[in-house]
Amino acid sequence: MEVVIKDTYEEISAAAAQMVAAHVRNKADAVLGLATGSSPLGLYKELIRMHRDEGLDFSKVTTFNLDEYVGLTPDHDQSYHYFMYENLFKHVNVSPGKTHVPAGTSDDYLAFCQWYEDKIEQAGGIDIQVLGIGSDGHIAFNEPGSSLASRTRVKTLAEQTIEDNARFFAKKEDVPIYSVTMGVGTIIEADTCILLANGEGKADAIAAAVEGPVSSSCTASALQLHPDTIFFIDEAAAGKLKMKDYYKWIQDKKPGAPVG
Ligand code: F6R
Repeated sequence: MEVVIKDTYEEISAAAAQMVAAHVRNKADAVLGLATGSSPLGLYKELIRMHRDEGLDFSKVTTFNLDEYVGLTPDHDQSYHYFMYENLFKHVNVSPGKTHVPAGTSDDYLAFCQWYEDKIEQAGGIDIQVLGIGSDGHIAFNEPGSSLASRTRVKTLAEQTIEDNARFFAKKEDVPIYSVTMGVGTIIEADTCILLANGEGKADAIAAAVEGPVSSSCTASALQLHPDTIFFIDEAAAGKLKMKDYYKWIQDKKPGAPVG
């Protein structure tokens, strides 16, 4: 587990984008796991810039999103389908047939969730998974109490999450109560995980995820068991880390470490 602390949101976004871009350059048919919300917006802007200015090629890339609100169709302006199209997909040359976002409406959610798991497996698994973190420590919509072995399923949102996400809707009552979400077990099978967090509102969640016990009370803490996870966080989100100076020391010394 690595903790990369930068002064600004722009810097964490740029550093995370470099990692995603490196995966796409090294493997043209990379499988990307993607998140929605405020945290990855800067990363997506930077990928769009790299596509435009540097020819970063998404034509063979496959994507899988973490989650979707139950009840929202892809044309709903708060659906995660819509978010991904507006904030990334329409700006790069990703093939529409290779993008996957969980269905918000289904006659059979159980069957859909199994289908989604199977699709990820058939694609060869996720090479790099982008994550945000909820103020209650969730990754995807794996709210406190979610099994750390969970797979894609329907999940009830915590009241805290509904309150946090109400800012995107006309009123709190419009926020869906259920979601379809990859499980923690699904997420930590990705080869690499990168988590972005900024602002002091995330400081408690980051401290619990990075330095707290591995516990379903903070599902992001499961990343401590993952062999290749990087937290990209700004100073405000790092504000409650006890070992902040140590993480900076490690990053500072990294360029001199022997390779291989
Ligand atoms: C979204 C997702 C969520 C968010 C989290 C943080 O696909 O999986 O876990 O990453 O709720 O949201 P923001 O970034 O809006 O603070």
